[in-house]
Amino acid sequence: MAQNLDALRLALQHSPDNAPLLMLFADACLDEGLMDEAEQSFQHVLKNDPANADARLGLARVALLQGKTSQAAVRAEQIISDTPSCAAAYLLLARIHITEGDRSKARAMYDKGIALNRSLADPGIEKDLHGVKPPEEETSGRKRGAMTSSGSFMESVSDDNDDDSHPRGGAAFDLGLADFEKPKLNFSGVGGMEALKEEIRMKIIYPLQHAELFKAYDKKVGGGVLLYGPPGVGKTLISKATAGEIKANFIALGLHQILDMWIGNSEKNMHEVFELARQNAPSILFFDEVDALAADRRDLRQSAGRNLINAFLAEMDGAESNNDGVLILGATNAPWHIDPAFRRPGRFDRTLFVPPPDEAGRAAIIEVMAQKKPIGELDPRALAKKTEGFSGADLKAVFDIATEEVMNEVMRTGKVIPLNTKDLIKAAGRHKATTKAWFESAKNYAMYSNQSGFYDDVLKHLGLMKR
Ligand SMILES: Nc1ncnc2c1ncn2[C@@H]1O[C@H](COP(=O)(O)OP(=O)(O)OP(=O)(O)O)[C@@H](O)[C@H]1O
Ligand SMILES: [Mg+2]
Repeated sequence: MAQNLDALRLALQHSPDNAPLLMLFADACLDEGLMDEAEQSFQHVLKNDPANADARLGLARVALLQGKTSQAAVRAEQIISDTPSCAAAYLLLARIHITEGDRSKARAMYDKGIALNRSLADPGIEKDLHGVKPPEEETSGRKRGAMTSSGSFMESVSDDNDDDSHPRGGAAFDLGLADFEKPKLNFSGVGGMEALKEEIRMKIIYPLQHAELFKAYDKKVGGGVLLYGPPGVGKTLISKATAGEIKANFIALGLHQILDMWIGNSEKNMHEVFELARQNAPSILFFDEVDALAADRRDLRQSAGRNLINAFLAEMDGAESNNDGVLILGATNAPWHIDPAFRRPGRFDRTLFVPPPDEAGRAAIIEVMAQKKPIGELDPRALAKKTEGFSGADLKAVFDIATEEVMNEVMRTGKVIPLNTKDLIKAAGRHKATTKAWFESAKNYAMYSNQSGFYDDVLKHLGLMKR
């Protein structure tokens, strides 16, 4: 465990603003009882993303563990009022009420949490609440979630619909078949993004599908493409869909696998991953949150971590092996942390900016999302108009909030109530777009360190450069 913590600490020196990494580190600190470090890390996440419910929940957990119960309660209640669909916040509040000795309030909160997300059922809380009835509403008709040993109330609030493109590894790096697939998702499952899809077709799909034409001109097929953009705009989603679109083999390495390499025998694993991709060409090797690996921290060149980075660069160069037909995709929302060495020819030498969706794009995403919900009357255009600056993840939050709104009624009547445009527009009013903060950082980099036009697309998007 302590070894894990050290590896996370090292990775963080390397990529200090990486939110998922900060969250992992903070959780590990909580497990080890390192409250101050946990608190600082949650605060750090919130500095860049003030609405992050996971990090806010983390601070409430810290307060509870420090015995500051009323502070913990205030924090948890605020999360619920801002993000009513945050099941984990109800469970934390249940814990707090148990600590305060109010078991019937605890029961009410616990039941609400479980109604939102059954997989959070917590045997520990169930045991504490055994035989306790909630104060108000009668809940006897409601089935409670089954107890699962894996369901813990500490689970991430955004886990329920998580994209599965980056399976989580254990402590040891294990490249099983689970990491290797031909995704079913293709471009039709990704709303909007028409311009980006076209660019991907030209820069990625066409070359991979017509390798012989490219060979005739002695042009290599493959290499590296870096996708960057604000959080939640669909970088991970479109990467997976790209592989699905061409039925290429897709090997995805998420933050967890990258960290496992930091901990374990890294260079060998790095080599094996590339070999697997080469043997299965045409294939896409996807490094999600690639800044955890490729961050620009010169001091690290001296340290042990440098070996892993050098191994990665050597594999990318394909100096010793042939990378033909292997496309390396990287995604990041902190491109400014990427070491320029990673962007040299033959490495991530092509970049694609993934902007937040425009109005038509939002309407398309809304249509894709609506397919998974009971919908009455829906005017995607009208909702798109009211959601300027919203990312795909923000739109997903809008659907979650609207769902939560009707949930009480659904449970009372036992009937499915369809969502309508007006419910969704109302929900949109309760959610703030998360892409703005990103553009503030990006704008500074784009204006003051726009080497070789790296950020031109950001400047164009902001209207600061002609298209
Ligand atoms: N174009 C889209 N069509 C449908 N759903 C989308 C789209 N864009 C984003 N989403 C939804 O938003 C969620 C977040 O998208 P994704 O994880 O791909 O974003 P990301 O850009 O990789 O974010 P991060 O930078 O935080 O890793 C997806 O799981 C999906 O539900
Ligand atoms: Mg992602």
